Amino acid sequence: MINSLRGFRDILPPESDLFARIEAAAREVFGLYGYRELRVPTLEKKELFVKSTGDTTDIVEKEMYAFTDGGGREIANRPEGTPGVVRAYIEHNLGQTGRNAKFFYIGSMFRAERPQAGRYREFTQIGAEYIGNPSPAADAESISMLVRLLEKAGVEGCSVEINSLGCSECRRSYREILLAFLRQRSETLCEPCRARIERNPLRALDCKTDGPRLAAEAPKLALCPACAEHFSDTQRLLAAAGVGYKVNTSLVRGLDYYTRTVFEVRTTALGSQDAVAAGGRYDDLVKSMGGPAAPAIGWAMGVDRVAMLLAGKPAPDNSPRTFVVAAAKEAGDKAFELMTALRAAGISSDFSNFTLSLKSQMRSADKSGASCALIIGEEEFKTNACSVKHLKEQGEQKTVPLPDAPSYIKKLLEG
Ligand code: HAM
Repeated sequence: MINSLRGFRDILPPESDLFARIEAAAREVFGLYGYRELRVPTLEKKELFVKSTGDTTDIVEKEMYAFTDGGGREIANRPEGTPGVVRAYIEHNLGQTGRNAKFFYIGSMFRAERPQAGRYREFTQIGAEYIGNPSPAADAESISMLVRLLEKAGVEGCSVEINSLGCSECRRSYREILLAFLRQRSETLCEPCRARIERNPLRALDCKTDGPRLAAEAPKLALCPACAEHFSDTQRLLAAAGVGYKVNTSLVRGLDYYTRTVFEVRTTALGSQDAVAAGGRYDDLVKSMGGPAAPAIGWAMGVDRVAMLLAGKPAPDNSPRTFVVAAAKEAGDKAFELMTALRAAGISSDFSNFTLSLKSQMRSADKSGASCALIIGEEEFKTNACSVKHLKEQGEQKTVPLPDAPSYIKKLLEG
């Protein structure tokens, strides 16, 4: 017996139904906002993540599934979706198409974190990236689209937290102030933080052990006038879009590329893994990866966590609507044709095993959750018909000619 790897899991029904529901809601909402799907590979050059996500981040330093392949290439399973989208944008000149570069993706991400409920080593993200628009309207649109998507998927009780990390100019002066603060406390810092504060002091504020304490005590970043205006305009537009939010000046995010607006959607229903979705602006990333100067904003939502929030809530019934039973050996082929005709007419249909007894097939029909059983017994076989038996509610059993069965069932189910 070979089991699955720790942190890697099978998503079984009914959880897989929830995943499909969330994805369908996302596709619908993305359509309303002009986003199109971009499918990028799950494997990329390791360097892509080192340069974009950042070599001082936990994701790259400790959590990446990176290896050398048979040809000596350093590659990595993507820990997040943004770097691949940015690479594709540059590689295929997606800024030159004349259309808005608004892309969404749905797929697996890989991080070698310590697994626990809501935290896996392979997990699914639905993400959205909008490249090329510097205006606060793009920030407000991106955040409100995320909120609409969560509502559409049926998620309740989430809160939105936002902050601004300023531009590279605001951060240059803040870096020195923060570094001085951290150096004074270097004795109290954890080992990894002590090792990286000189390279990236901001990371200490996001540290899993010391982050919250340090973020509360540390001097706050002062925004330059342009960044302050961008942040207040974003908030005004969010309010106009009817999005409730809270400013959290301690929110720094654990990835290196963010500038200006950052945000997280949290819930109290998931214990310590409380971030359902998160994102922010990354105005310098495309250029720093060798592309044109293209400001951008995006987010990613953890589908596994959203599915946990929806579990146990009433879900649409996806049982087959009909169940076909053949009570005579030679009726099996006709029964098979009947299922084909029902499905072609858009009516879901299932069966068990036409060679089993009528009783056993009817037992399966009852368990299937179908509304009616279509039975082809000896009599029906001779007259090229089927008997329609109601399974969920009282109703008269009726015999219907096989060619008329799909339209009869359609009316019956609609009525
Ligand atoms: P992130 O905050 O690293 O951002 O991940 C986004 C979401 O993915 C989290 O809020 C969480 O719901 C989910 N997630 C992360 N790690 C795990 C895990 N181990 N197990 C289950 N769910 C997880 C990003 O990935 C950025 N690329 C977001 C972004 C897009 N920023 C701009 N554009």
